[in-house]
Amino acid sequence: MDLGLNSKVVLITGGSKGIGLACARAFAKEGAKVAIVSRDPANLARAREQLKGEGLNVHLTRADLHEPHSAADIVEEVTTAVGPIDVLINSAGAARRYDPESLDADAFRATMEAKYFPYIYPQQEVLRRMAERAKAGGEPGTIVNIIGMGGKIASDIHIAGGAANAALMLATVGLAHYYARYGIRINAINPGSTLTERVEEALKLEASQHGIGTDEALARGQAKVPLGRFAKPEEIADVALFLASRRASYVTGAIVPMDGGSAPLI
Ligand SMILES: NC(=O)c1ccc[n+]([C@@H]2O[C@H](COP(=O)([O-])OP(=O)(O)OC[C@H]3O[C@@H](n4cnc5c(N)ncnc54)[C@H](OP(=O)(O)O)[C@@H]3O)[C@@H](O)[C@H]2O)c1
Repeated sequence: MDLGLNSKVVLITGGSKGIGLACARAFAKEGAKVAIVSRDPANLARAREQLKGEGLNVHLTRADLHEPHSAADIVEEVTTAVGPIDVLINSAGAARRYDPESLDADAFRATMEAKYFPYIYPQQEVLRRMAERAKAGGEPGTIVNIIGMGGKIASDIHIAGGAANAALMLATVGLAHYYARYGIRINAINPGSTLTERVEEALKLEASQHGIGTDEALARGQAKVPLGRFAKPEEIADVALFLASRRASYVTGAIVPMDGGSAPLI
């Protein structure tokens, strides 16, 4: 199936690890020109080496996206070095878990800084440029936000992160509604537990808390999922590829759950 992504310029925030890295690999395999951004140069270099070993090239950009001006800088840098951005995949962020009784205003603010704004800043900068291009008769671009099921179902230890995710969903559908007039599409994926390093670390912690092995902690977690297992990052990347492709040309404002059937929600 030709997804029409060959030579497209794709910026992937959080592209050095996990779901973002899986997206970098998937888009690069489609022939896209991929740029990845994250904070730690060592993570970026490791991602580049991994992809290089698979015959894939990516452009690296270092930034901390919780800083308001970093998005304008990286978008300018990628536009100059690689070309105007056709696709933005937002996957940079991580919300800490809190005991609900320790949640205070600072914790909510820190969570918005860690998860909400690192998506909003690049999205606003890229949208501004995509709209300018579209108004000038250029091809409209598309955005896929990797958000999280925690924004749909409240969990005692993920209330602040869930609130950030819920706000990101609202921003996704609201901006999709407005920017459709320019042909710009914005969609989101809500992963459930997905086997990235972050989840592996959480499993190790859970295992040590319960005096069990990591394999047992994983088995217990996976047993709760109707499909019987956690997602693989490349499964999330495949759906991001489709949503960003011309094969999804009439899909905008969609929030795709990928939780293995865990939450029977409409
Ligand atoms: N994995 C899951 O089970 C799961 C489930 C639901 C939702 N999600 C969401 O999906 C997204 C990706 O998750 P993941 O598991 O792939 O995470 P991950 O493996 O921890 O990767 C996160 C990526 O984002 C980068 N990053 C984090 N904060 C950043 C910042 N302020 N500025 C720039 N880069 C930043 C990290 O690199 P540096 O450390 O180098 O900055 C890394 O490349 C997250 O928003 C997460 O909440 C994940």
